[in-house]
Amino acid sequence: MQQLRAPKQLGAARARPARPAPPRGPLRVRAAAAVESSPTSATQDAASFTSHVVGEEAKYVLQTYARPADVVFVRGEGAKLYDAGGKEYLDMAAGIAVNALGHGDARWYEALSRQAGILSHTSNLFHTVPQVELAKRLVEKSFADKVFFCNSGTEANEAAIKFARKYARVHAGIDPYDPHATAPHEIVSFTNCFHGRTMGALALTYKEQYKSPFLPVMPGHVLAEYNNLESAAAAIKKGSTAAVFVEPVQGEGGCTPSQVAFLSGLRSLCDEAGALLVFDEVQCGLGRTGKLWGYENYGVEPDVMSLAKPLAGGLPIGAVLLKQAVADVMKPGDHGSTFAGNPLVCATATAVVDVISDPAFLASVEAKGERLRAGLRAATAGNPHVLEVRGVGLLVGVQLDVMAGKVVEAARAEGLLIITAGKGDVVRLVPPLVISDEEIDHCCRVLAGVLARLDSL
Ligand SMILES: Cc1ncc(COP(=O)(O)O)c(C=O)c1O
Repeated sequence: MQQLRAPKQLGAARARPARPAPPRGPLRVRAAAAVESSPTSATQDAASFTSHVVGEEAKYVLQTYARPADVVFVRGEGAKLYDAGGKEYLDMAAGIAVNALGHGDARWYEALSRQAGILSHTSNLFHTVPQVELAKRLVEKSFADKVFFCNSGTEANEAAIKFARKYARVHAGIDPYDPHATAPHEIVSFTNCFHGRTMGALALTYKEQYKSPFLPVMPGHVLAEYNNLESAAAAIKKGSTAAVFVEPVQGEGGCTPSQVAFLSGLRSLCDEAGALLVFDEVQCGLGRTGKLWGYENYGVEPDVMSLAKPLAGGLPIGAVLLKQAVADVMKPGDHGSTFAGNPLVCATATAVVDVISDPAFLASVEAKGERLRAGLRAATAGNPHVLEVRGVGLLVGVQLDVMAGKVVEAARAEGLLIITAGKGDVVRLVPPLVISDEEIDHCCRVLAGVLARLDSL
């Protein structure tokens, strides 16, 4: 099989951030050997390289993603990505709200490479220091008393469902391990929500097309209308409801903030019903809204909160934060994961949390979010296709009166990476939190220009 190698110009294109020296000894020798044994071909042209990679992907990778066929990313730096031809893109997607510190951040790289040279994985059969350090940080900086680690957002929600179900069984006074005993088990979620794609999280997720090919999903799900307290009150019932899942700011659903009265009303309804209130902060948590946690914008605390995307700045991680009363029902053997919370990912995540939780950093995210929304409103003023610019912090949506697919393509051609949300009629902007003011202004200019040409796209 032909080897996939990037064209020559890629390696030398930009100065990289300051990086620590690689570890000494055998590791260092092997790394150097790997680089030397894969020289890039000066004659290989970027377009043929790209079509070769795309062809090989179609041949070998399960086709569950509709990726653009004209771009293969080979390098990132700050809020910029570079394709195989060396073309620069402003990354307003950040790996779907993951690369909070951008690409190749020196602090992230330092934590990752240092820990990689010390200890990467032991399984959860043993204690390790970085897992404890990260859990301590998350507890000290949040409403929570305990942390459970996993590897993704859907796994975090899957775990939260299990914790809620067991909490309900224990509090119903039954033996939770008795397969014939029943207890409140319903889970309420809301229109336009996204909680993941595993069978439990998928049951909660709104879009039918994500579920129907795989039916039946987890039973016991109840749907209510987002930002509608009456609908929530009808769905949340003492003796039936185990938990209510809600994103304080919906991401995939359309970058839609919850109303304050809605979240505080859900808190009261859960308390009255003896149900757990679970905030899914997989997308809106950890600095994205300009507060460390999305719920801080509302003054309402959950019993359980799921986190994932930005937590390790690009490494796979998920976490569930819990109040002690919920933690108390879980026993050794009740849940687990081989990879979760390993030293490599936790040491890296700790560095990310330390950067993001700095109040000055959070204030800068808030200011950048305001700049982005104000800039977009000004630049698109008078455009009849732009119905609304909304969001909190750097979770921003531009509601269009048409589908946004062509806008995404046209923007990419102009070196601007954006994604969609909602029914496909919202442009979603979730850039690295380290994006500069100049980059924000550039985004506003390019996007407004593309939207001005929308009728001819
Ligand atoms: C709010 C929310 N919850 C859960 C998930 C699922 O996360 P993952 O894709 O890591 O499983 C996502 C992913 O977009 C999300 O936005």
